[in-house]
Amino acid sequence: MVKVSIVRGDITTMAVDAIVNAANSSLLGGSGVDGAIHRAAGSRLLDECRTLGGCPTGEARITAGYDLPARHVIHTVGPIWRGGGEGEAALLASCYRNSLLLALEHGCKSIAFPSISTGVFGYPVAKAAHVALRAIVDVLYDHPELDVTMVCFDEKTLGAYRFDWNMWYAEYKEHHD
Ligand code: AR6
Repeated sequence: MVKVSIVRGDITTMAVDAIVNAANSSLLGGSGVDGAIHRAAGSRLLDECRTLGGCPTGEARITAGYDLPARHVIHTVGPIWRGGGEGEAALLASCYRNSLLLALEHGCKSIAFPSISTGVFGYPVAKAAHVALRAIVDVLYDHPELDVTMVCFDEKTLGAYRFDWNMWYAEYKEHHD
């Protein structure tokens, strides 16, 4: 049985093996959840990020968590929404998949995600929720030991992820029971 927790909250407070950061390709910080993670982790996070040389869209990099309750931060770069015809969905799915595979490589079992790309990068949240949850579930089928939490910052985001999960999960039960 595949399970994903979907909660409302601030990802910087999550005491998990790894939290995922919705970064930009410089990995040198920004606004939104990226800014919040860097503030809460302290300046040593930026020092480590400077050594990484950036990260292409859809890929992921890992650092320590420093002053965060999380042991690691996995930095991934979501796509900027350009109307949906520029490979945005595949790139967004890659963010989730690559983040989870990197977590596994580093022995992380509990992982918390923010809603990648749905803030500054403008990805419509209902569409993003669908791509995100399918990508997560695809990895969880092979790695049921992973414990994944989607941390939604506001009610609208929470509603979009819960709605998509309920829609998809009902369908899954129909076909597998
Ligand atoms: N915990 C969880 N979610 C949060 C938090 C938090 N503390 N703060 C914001 N969010 P965004 P993007 C939500 O804009 O769209 C940065 O400048 C937020 O409400 O943070 O991928 C980077 O450096 C929204 O639902 O990320 C990049 O340049 C979600 O996190 C760019 O923004 C994502 O919003 C990335 O844009």
